[in-house]
Amino acid sequence: MGKERRMEMVLGFLVALLSWGSGFREDGLQMGFYSRTCPQAEMIVRDEVNMALRNDVGLAAGLVRMQFHDCFVRGCDGSVLIDSTPTNKAEKDSPVNNPSLRGFEVIDRAKERLEAACEGTVSCADILAFAARDSIAFSGGFGYPVLGGRRDGRVSILSETFSNLPSPNSNLSQLIQSFANKGFSREEMVTLSGAHTIGRAHCSSFNNRLYNFSTTDAQDPSLEPLLATQLKQQCPLNNNNGNMVVPMNPRSSYTLDSSYYSNVLAMRGLFTSDQALLTHPATANQVMRNAFDSSMWQDQFTRAMFKLSLLGVITGTDGEIRLNCGVIN
Ligand code: HEM
Ligand SMILES: *[C@@H]1O[C@H](CO)[C@@H](O)[C@H](O)[C@H]1NC(C)=O
Ligand SMILES: *[C@@H]1O[C@H](CO)[C@@H](O)[C@H](O)[C@H]1NC(C)=O
Repeated sequence: MGKERRMEMVLGFLVALLSWGSGFREDGLQMGFYSRTCPQAEMIVRDEVNMALRNDVGLAAGLVRMQFHDCFVRGCDGSVLIDSTPTNKAEKDSPVNNPSLRGFEVIDRAKERLEAACEGTVSCADILAFAARDSIAFSGGFGYPVLGGRRDGRVSILSETFSNLPSPNSNLSQLIQSFANKGFSREEMVTLSGAHTIGRAHCSSFNNRLYNFSTTDAQDPSLEPLLATQLKQQCPLNNNNGNMVVPMNPRSSYTLDSSYYSNVLAMRGLFTSDQALLTHPATANQVMRNAFDSSMWQDQFTRAMFKLSLLGVITGTDGEIRLNCGVIN
């Protein structure tokens, strides 16, 4: 699909949204939710995100992943931002998030400015949803509207990350099930996986594929051998440094295009879960289509991210507007 056709589709989507007027609502959320109470809200978030990304472009990937991890655990309620306390281990400290999840300071800085500008008005959950959108726009040049009005949750439980977030060792049926549990189709799962075009991964997230794959194969046979050799150099056996990382996609770690799918086709997906997309004809077909049509994928990704941003939100007078994103009021 050409660039023009893609623009047409994106515009169609925007017009469909905007034609509802600023009163467009979904699941209690609204376009322009802060237009009267804090008109500069989205601008302040975008400004903070852009400043942070100009300094460290990798944070874009961090913020996109943070939105996913927030929404899949208790809905998009900012629960991933809550700090542990002496009596509660929070999501943030799950090995799924700590030390890998990054970008918290970007949310905190935006929150600080928003508190100065419009005290007690803009939720941390909304800031994160805006920031993820802005990170995608920064990384690929394509934006999408994000409704406002999410309220912040008051609960964050470390153990809930395990049951709600897919593991990188998942096979295809586990991936499909994990997304189905949240109302996402198999197609949407494949579409969202393309986020792995940007960012990095810790060696521990895929080491088993290099050294200890199965009783018959030390190395995962579905991992392209040259990449395996390279990864072994970057992630030596028995290294005790939990901070070692590799780029998710060495060819374009900062641009959100569909090269993730070309990598998967070339057996160069980093995780078992990435490579699993080739294990069924339907998903393999979608991988192939996405690999060859980045703009079609971007359009689908935009829609899926919009849907993700609505997941399990709390609105109205439920929850709270946290004053500090790390601390329940
Ligand atoms: C399909 C199931 C998924 C699995 C099993 C999975 C797993 C992972 C793992 C293990 C990492 C590496 C963390 C590390 O070691 O540092 C990672 C990184 C990442 N994931 Fe996923 N993920 C999935 C889906 C998604 C989705 C739906 C999104 C967003 C829409 C996403 C966005 C990202 C991004 C952007 C990174 C890079 C983070 C960074 O550079 O800081 N992932 N993912
Ligand atoms: C996926 O993994 C689960 C859990 O290990 C297993 O029960 C299931 O049979 C696997 N599915 C496929 C298709 O390999
Ligand atoms: C390989 O995996 C087995 C089973 O999980 C474990 O007992 C063993 O210690 C692992 N070996 C290495 C070198 O990590």
